[in-house]
Amino acid sequence: MTDWPKESIAIGILGLGVVGSGTVDLLMRNRAEIERKIGMPFRIKRIAVRNPDKKRSVSVDRSLLTTNVSDVLDDPDIDIVCELIGGISPAKDFVLRALQNGKHVVTANKEMIAKEGHALMEQASLKRLDFQFEGSVGGGIPIIQPMKNALAGNQVNEVVGIINGTTNYILTKMTQEHADFDEVLREAQSHGYAEADPTSDIEGLDAQYKIAILGSIAFTSRVAVNEVYVEGITRITAADIACAEELGYTIKLLGIARRVGDDRMQVRVHPALLANSHPLAATNDVYNAILIKGDSVGDVMFYGRGAGSGPTGSAVVGDIMDVCRNLKFGSTGRIACTCFGHKIMQPIEEVFHLD
Ligand SMILES: NC(=O)c1ccc[n+]([C@@H]2O[C@H](COP(=O)([O-])OP(=O)(O)OC[C@H]3O[C@@H](n4cnc5c(N)ncnc54)[C@H](OP(=O)(O)O)[C@@H]3O)[C@@H](O)[C@H]2O)c1
Repeated sequence: MTDWPKESIAIGILGLGVVGSGTVDLLMRNRAEIERKIGMPFRIKRIAVRNPDKKRSVSVDRSLLTTNVSDVLDDPDIDIVCELIGGISPAKDFVLRALQNGKHVVTANKEMIAKEGHALMEQASLKRLDFQFEGSVGGGIPIIQPMKNALAGNQVNEVVGIINGTTNYILTKMTQEHADFDEVLREAQSHGYAEADPTSDIEGLDAQYKIAILGSIAFTSRVAVNEVYVEGITRITAADIACAEELGYTIKLLGIARRVGDDRMQVRVHPALLANSHPLAATNDVYNAILIKGDSVGDVMFYGRGAGSGPTGSAVVGDIMDVCRNLKFGSTGRIACTCFGHKIMQPIEEVFHLD
């Protein structure tokens, strides 16, 4: 439980994998600068993992590691819990327990936010706790915070993005090398750009979670993941790409969330033809880009590395620092869930203008 004003911050971390390591590495590497920016010292008090003997890409004092999550969740000294395990179970229960224990939460867990974010945010709001999830969409690209802060005055009419690095890498290679899907997938796996089980990426599920999160924020209305139309890239052939190229188009897997009139929305993930002159068309390899259309700002585009240890660690650390600043000034829980409305999903059969 946290008392205000805070003079130092204790952080507990669940998970020291790809994102956990990037987070810890950045916190340690830039400690002096981070502490100056937040105006107080911090310490990483405990890190929960499954196997404390595993070789890590970041070196941490062995005494920080624990296999007992209670050492993080139930430690009264810990102010902020970073959930970097992934999936729904047991991550959701851990997050709920952290919130019940009065801890602020930072997570990069897109599946948990897309499916269970509402309940978790309600719990955080009840206790005026911060609940931040910048790393859940776009890896290192700031997108959630800008939508909730700098762009908050706009009515967002559309969010369209390349939000999965693995599929963008595969489509880029298929385009550049005129190669078939299976061949490029194998190459992507050998380079570590695709998982051994690539289903979530190539079938569009990862993008489905992310566009559900972005759509919910854009339209202040909860987007149910199972209502988001999804089609992956497994049926795209080298011939499709060659044909698109001849016509001046490129094929990209897009996540699209579009406002339809006052009370409806379209939220979908599928491969789409983009004119080569489209601002997203030049987003290649593992890069991600997200274009937002606001009624005042016009078009704004965000571009960068959509995954990986360093980029996602950067997003998590940004969130941690935001919580620290709120803790310092007693202003936690400022930005609660913004899903006030209830927009109806337009069925895919009624979507005529695919672009
Ligand atoms: N990887 C990315 O580029 C990326 C980008 C954006 C968002 N994310 C999201 O970030 C989250 C973490 O992803 P990741 O790639 O870092 O996963 P990961 O490399 O598989 O790491 C997961 C970590 O959680 C630990 N863990 C798993 N179950 C646990 C339990 N019951 N108790 C304690 N620790 C447990 C593991 O411990 P051991 O190491 O001991 O096995 C491991 O350190 C996911 O929600 C993912 O969607 C990932």
